[in-house]
Formats: sequence, C-alpha cells, structure tokens
Amino acid sequence: MKLLKKISLGVVLVFVAIQFFSPTKNIATGNHTEAFIKQTNPSPELKNIFETSCYDCHSNNTDYPWYNNIAPVSFLLADHVKEGKEHLNFSEWENYSLDKKDHLLAEIEEEVVDGNMPLSQYTLLHKDTELTANEVNKLVEWVRQTRIIYQLGKQPK
Ligand code: HEC
Repeated sequence: MKLLKKISLGVVLVFVAIQFFSPTKNIATGNHTEAFIKQTNPSPELKNIFETSCYDCHSNNTDYPWYNNIAPVSFLLADHVKEGKEHLNFSEWENYSLDKKDHLLAEIEEEVVDGNMPLSQYTLLHKDTELTANEVNKLVEWVRQTRIIYQLGKQPK
C-alpha cells in the first residue's frame, strides 16, 4: 500500500510538472490559405469542409480546443499537426510544384474515399467534422476537375 501511495504521488507530481511545458502553437495571421482557394476554386461547401475538417492539421493555423491547455494532450496534438503539415500544408500550396499539387490532390481523394481522413481520433472529439458520402463525392468531383487543369500544365487562375 505504501508503495502504491508513492507511485500515485509520483504520477501526480509528474503530471503537475509537465503542465509548465507547452509546445509552440500553430497560429497564422491573415488569409493563410488564400493561394490554395484561388487556384483550386472549391465551392463554398467544400471550402467549409477544408476549414472545419482539415486545416487544423494541414495548414499553418490550428483552432485549438480547450483541452489543448492540458499536457500531455498538447504534445500529442502538436505532433499530429507537425506530421500532418509535413505531408500536406494548404497554407504552402503556392510553393508546391505542379506535379506535387497533382499528386497531393490524388492523395486527398484516396484518403477521404478510404475514410482515413480526417483522422478518427479527431472526428471522435469533433463530431461535425466527419465527411458524409455526399460530401466525399463532391470532393472527389472537385479533385478530378482540378487535377485535369494541373495535368494540362496550367495554373488555374
Ligand atoms: C487530427 C489531424 C488531422 C486532420 C484533422 C486531418 N489530417 Fe490528414 N493527416 C494527418 C496526419 C498526422 C497525416 C500523416 C500520417 C498519416 O497518413 O496518417 C495525414 C496525412 C494526410 C494525407 C496524406 C498525404 C501523403 O503525402 O501521403 C492526406 C492527403 C491528408 N492527410 C488529407 C487530409 C484531408 C483532406 C483532411 C480533411 C478532410 C485531413 N487530412 C484531416 C492528420 C490530420
């Protein structure tokens, strides 16, 4: 029993101690996805989907939930954002080559059709972010149209 008490106290102390540390936040100022929206011209509905279901992990700006103030949640979240942005960052769209954009669009289609994105850990806590079959269809339609333009070697205006 004594040992258990010591262990519990140790866990509590570690928990308290890590609260003094927090990862750098992913916060952008201004219209950070303007280039992406201008070039790919999604409908208002799709634009809204990107905003609510994707930008938190795939842009330079995360809309943090309250529980992000609690470690170690904050570190887990920061990790998702870092990894998500490494794969695809909508705020950096204009810096990708035509080939890369075309490839990323194909990946977007694949990930949403397979139901891998948004991540399930995310949709579990953000109920309204899961895509409906209808939304997936519209996204796929947009991906195909946009890819044709990129494949023709043109930057959509
Ligand atoms: C909670 C964070 C989170 C959200 C929300 C999220 N993603 Fe991701 N995404 C990730 C992470 C982490 C990875 C990389 C690891 C992996 O593939 O699981 C990733 C990978 C991807 C990839 C793969 C890119 C490649 O190069 O293979 C695509 C495409 C993608 N996400 C699209 C989306 C789209 C579209 C949405 C919104 C509908 C979305 N994601 C929402 C975290 C997220």
